[in-house]
Amino acid sequence: MAKAHSHGQWTSRMGFVLAATGSAVGLGNIWKFPYMIGQSGGAAFVLVYLACIALIGLPILVAEWMIGRRGQKNPISTMAEVAAKHGSSRSWAVVGFTGVLGAFLILSFYSVIGGWALSYMGDAATGAFAGMDKDATGAAFTAFLGNAGSLLTWHSVFMLLTVGVVAMGVAGGLERASKLMMPALGVLLLVLVGYGMTTGGFGQAAAYLFNPDWSKLNGGVVMAALGHAFFTLSLGMGIMMAYGSYLGEDVDLLRTARTVVIMDTVIAIAAGLAIFPIVFANGLDPAAGPGLIFVTLPLAFGNITGGVALGTIFFLLLTFAALTSAISLLEPVVELVEERTPLSRVGATVIAGFATWALGIAALLSFNVWGDVTLLGLNIFDLLDQLTSKFLLPLTGLGAIVFAAWCLDQESVRRELKLSEGGYALWRIVTRFIAPIGVLAVFVGNL
Ligand code: PHE
Repeated sequence: MAKAHSHGQWTSRMGFVLAATGSAVGLGNIWKFPYMIGQSGGAAFVLVYLACIALIGLPILVAEWMIGRRGQKNPISTMAEVAAKHGSSRSWAVVGFTGVLGAFLILSFYSVIGGWALSYMGDAATGAFAGMDKDATGAAFTAFLGNAGSLLTWHSVFMLLTVGVVAMGVAGGLERASKLMMPALGVLLLVLVGYGMTTGGFGQAAAYLFNPDWSKLNGGVVMAALGHAFFTLSLGMGIMMAYGSYLGEDVDLLRTARTVVIMDTVIAIAAGLAIFPIVFANGLDPAAGPGLIFVTLPLAFGNITGGVALGTIFFLLLTFAALTSAISLLEPVVELVEERTPLSRVGATVIAGFATWALGIAALLSFNVWGDVTLLGLNIFDLLDQLTSKFLLPLTGLGAIVFAAWCLDQESVRRELKLSEGGYALWRIVTRFIAPIGVLAVFVGNL
């Protein structure tokens, strides 16, 4: 049974904006988006991505906040109660369930990668990359992944930090941590972009990111842009629903969503302008995909003047990005446990954190001891990744937008979003047809 408890609240709109942006800005922005742009047609890809953000990402973000704010509870109870209030079946709760489950599963392996960022920050700060060549940084990364003990240590440290923040509550933990880390992240990023401008590689980096190459656009690229728009805004995980449940009535959802989306995109592009000048100025390969951050960049940091400082700054930036996302992943799970059990906030956080940590161990072992353990041809890490990104997230996001567009009383939505006549017409077309069809297309395309 739900117990009565004093429900957390954001203390200011700015605090909420920073926490939501902190959730949105993560590994996806710093590591994935830059190389996706480079590989998929530069400005041509950016334009497609922006269209996906505007037509699908933003409406679903607003829908999740709106549902959360109406329910004021964990995503499962929220979906059930808001549905009942609008004359729909309480089984809409399943959308909340798949969201919370997705957040839990993602955090287990996200924390493993957060641990890599922490470990590499230490290496960068102590000059461990000094003088290494490409083979050496590649071998160092392979050796790191092969060492279950180190992965476990860093995963544990990262998880402890996450639990520490979330245990302190919505305002005292999530909001306060975001108010500290997000501005710091912005400053670190500016320093790196500033450095990039002083290298000879800035022009080449800008060209790589922005020169439109329309020939690279195809169905696969459009799908990738759509999928990324979804992931980067932390949609379909119950996160934004949980965040909405701590929101006061006075916050303008559309305006706030616009701010979060713009900051998320600007930071992703800035990350490209931080990373690629270093890559090009040192004659390295920009298309290195996953190895870009943990193999290619260490190579550069080990061989340029100021590499120790720049490397430390970069991996600190990555750590902040990962940590502000990780706390948002734990929050819906904690909100659920806190409301459904007699546990206190701290107790709920410790239990949820412990369960996530334990599952994370299975994920990290797939890089070494359990490398051969596979299901459906995937190791545990990849299985968790695929299960969430291909199934749970799109289905949850689809559920949220369909519910908001078809089940909520539309007159109340119109008032809540302060829509004009034209804005309302547009909102209806986008939320009833364009966004759900877009998500469905990604879902089916992924299968
Ligand atoms: N939005 C984050 C990013 O772009 C990723 C993320 C995924 C955050 C899941 C929270 C939850 O990296």
